[in-house]
Amino acid sequence: MTQQQSQTLGRIIAVANQKGGVGKTTTAINLATAIALGGGRVLLVDTDPQGNLSSGVGLKGQRAEGGTVYEALLSDAAPESFILATQVDRLFLMPADRNLTGAEIEMVSLPERERRLQRVLDPLREQFDHIFIDCPPSLGLLTLNALVAADAVLIPLHCEYFALEGLADLVGTMRRVRGSLNPGLDIEGVLLTMYDDRTNLGQQVARDVRDFFKEKVFNTIIPRNVRLAEAPSHGIPAVLYDERSRGAAAYVALAKEMLARRAA
Ligand SMILES: Nc1ncnc2c1ncn2[C@@H]1O[C@H](COP(=O)(O)OP(=O)(O)OP(=O)(O)O)[C@@H](O)[C@H]1O
Ligand SMILES: [Mg+2]
Repeated sequence: MTQQQSQTLGRIIAVANQKGGVGKTTTAINLATAIALGGGRVLLVDTDPQGNLSSGVGLKGQRAEGGTVYEALLSDAAPESFILATQVDRLFLMPADRNLTGAEIEMVSLPERERRLQRVLDPLREQFDHIFIDCPPSLGLLTLNALVAADAVLIPLHCEYFALEGLADLVGTMRRVRGSLNPGLDIEGVLLTMYDDRTNLGQQVARDVRDFFKEKVFNTIIPRNVRLAEAPSHGIPAVLYDERSRGAAAYVALAKEMLARRAA
């Protein structure tokens, strides 16, 4: 993996799927860590009041000097004041906690309520090669803010029977965002997660998803792997917790594939 030129502006990628438990947070953490280990400067942004991303990098309940994403969305303080360093070199976090639930309601009365996150993240592009936004499992105002702030969306899909169900809502929301607030919004890629190659169902779902999204689907598939599930309870990204596990290897391969695609 080669480091991006520091003078190029960082790319903002929203990891989104309104379906719960499909691997959004696991993907954000491990993809970001793999890129940071490869030499990139990466910012993780937690926009989920559950705060799983923040706990997953060992910073549960922590606040930066200016506070959390909640304060970042609602105040005019400098974006840098909401950033914490993580235990991984070059990997940084804008944390979230339960207070963020309130932002969804409080933002409604603010001017340009869909652009609050864009306002926070745009000035940070000069300092990071990549900014990953971990979205909550809904298509509410927080996810909308992420889609408006982002250059592209990475969609994790759990390899199970109903994988494609409900996706029309996300695709429809992306279309509306493109039509008004963010015309350039792209699909970074669709990622098959929790894949179990012992079942025909997993293989069938993978085929259906490729039929539907074609070349937008990453070649790298994330297997079901217990190390990926264990790592968050230790507050350590799985690619560090057990770098030899299949799950860790898959996320390192995904980082390489993503960067190679971009360079092509
Ligand atoms: N490839 C995998 N293999 C095994 N377990 C996984 C894998 N990916 C994620 N998990 C586990 O599955 C659960 C859901 O994953 P994760 O939190 O990443 O999904 P999510 O889409 O962010 O969920 P939510 O919608 O609640 O934010 C977590 O307990 C996680 O540790
Ligand atoms: Mg999550």
